[in-house]
Amino acid sequence: MAATRTSNLDSVFYRDADSFFSANSEVGLTFDDVTLATLYSEVLPSQTQLDSRLADTLHLNIPVVSADMDTVTESRLAIAMALNGGLGLIHYNMPEKDQLWHVSRVKYHVQGLIPDPIKVSPDQSIGDVLKLIEEKNFGFSTFPVVDSNDKLVGLLSGHVVKPRYASKKVSEALTPRNQVHTISRKELGKDPIAIADTFFTKHVGIHKLLVVDDEDRLNGLITMSDVEKITQERKAQFKPARDSQFRLTCGAAVSATRNAFGELDRERILNHVGALVERGIDVVAVSTAHGHSKGVGDTVKVVRDAFPELPIIAGNVTSAAGVEYLAECGANIVKVGQGPGSICTTRIVAGVGIPQMTALHVCSKAAAEKKVSILADGGITKSGDIVKALTLAQGVICGGMFAGCTEAPGEVVEIGGKLYKQYRGMGSLSAMKAGSAARYGHDKADTTRKVAAEGVEALKEACGPVDRVLAGLIGGIQSGMGYLGAKDLAQLREKARYIRVSPAGQREAAPHDVVELKTKS
Ligand code: XMP
Repeated sequence: MAATRTSNLDSVFYRDADSFFSANSEVGLTFDDVTLATLYSEVLPSQTQLDSRLADTLHLNIPVVSADMDTVTESRLAIAMALNGGLGLIHYNMPEKDQLWHVSRVKYHVQGLIPDPIKVSPDQSIGDVLKLIEEKNFGFSTFPVVDSNDKLVGLLSGHVVKPRYASKKVSEALTPRNQVHTISRKELGKDPIAIADTFFTKHVGIHKLLVVDDEDRLNGLITMSDVEKITQERKAQFKPARDSQFRLTCGAAVSATRNAFGELDRERILNHVGALVERGIDVVAVSTAHGHSKGVGDTVKVVRDAFPELPIIAGNVTSAAGVEYLAECGANIVKVGQGPGSICTTRIVAGVGIPQMTALHVCSKAAAEKKVSILADGGITKSGDIVKALTLAQGVICGGMFAGCTEAPGEVVEIGGKLYKQYRGMGSLSAMKAGSAARYGHDKADTTRKVAAEGVEALKEACGPVDRVLAGLIGGIQSGMGYLGAKDLAQLREKARYIRVSPAGQREAAPHDVVELKTKS
């Protein structure tokens, strides 16, 4: 039987990464230049595992990251990415305080135990509470009531928070302490969701469980709807990406900020990263076009020294030396890609950059030696590109694939009966101006000095929710893994065999000689 599984005849044509890329070392290859050979398989696509460990404390359930671009990732898209098992990198083209707000929104999205719930005091009026709900746009109206020492006094239930009771005091309308269901922090143990789930099943009609400490001070709140969402997701094949405290995983970009004298502004960088860490960030990305540079290396070193445990993504590079440099500076994950992006003009403007598959192979060799991960950043237009990228990298970063999603920032515009969303390169003139002016307080002279934009402003067709886009991408990745008999991403990297594709082969790979009726589901 073994003879039917592998054959020496194949290995002459379909080569492993080392032999294939060495044989093609005189030409830069990208996704469409290569195809993967099918292999004997006992793996069904639906059985494949897509989890990827990017760093010791950064584990994703799908290897897909949304780009830190101002028309792609803010909290809404980052939440959707994490709920699907991936990661969103919140961009930095906004004031730091706004970026922190976006990070908090992701970290506090349905996490089971809300450690610091919104509470009210007994001597407020119901009218005050209604005003609070309106001002803060809360989507709930039940609040724990505490005294000035944070001791639990009762629960203000949503059905009394009505305009007709506006003049009444909270103390007159609350459910008193002795009738409120509580649990002590200690009783919650290691799996608060399981304990709360049992509690809600036993106590019919109770939807909120308050957590108190030994002195009866309010210590948290668990709601039945959150518990139900979480119990459901535990059964899903691709679970949301969460940290050890069950909060959604979130990343944020930081820049190699310089002061007025052109030196690295260490204090500012540390304050920025410190504030992100305080909000529970899981990874920071030192994102630049040229990662193999002193400014980026020094920024990584500054962050690494101050935050020894924090996973750091740094980039972008396309050489082994670049990966080695950033790894030695302290990065755990290196972004690979210069000029492959759908809105990038770096290769045209600066004449530099390496086609993505060759760059990934070169970088993957250095990454393996340095024991860091790499992310394939840019140029991905279909799920097949992701499968090819994952034969060399631990994950992919996509901008254009998500820019048309409902959750991406920006308005939908209608042109000629079609719906679009704006998508622009971070090196486009408008993005550079917005970033410099809003973030660093540069004056106009600074924002116009870099006249050669390295990105364009464009539109992407609106493509609906991230869930739908990711479902298509994940299905494609699983399908590719099934063809290679790879049950997980490590096996995909190990088993991949490549061959170059001729221009006629590329035409053959897409639908041809037919009149297409429908291209999208
Ligand atoms: P895709 O192909 O997914 O690429 O749209 C997203 C990636 O492109 C990079 N990026 C740029 N590169 N000029 C560039 O040369 C730019 O203006 C620009 N903006 C983004 C970035 O790495 C992103 O993840």
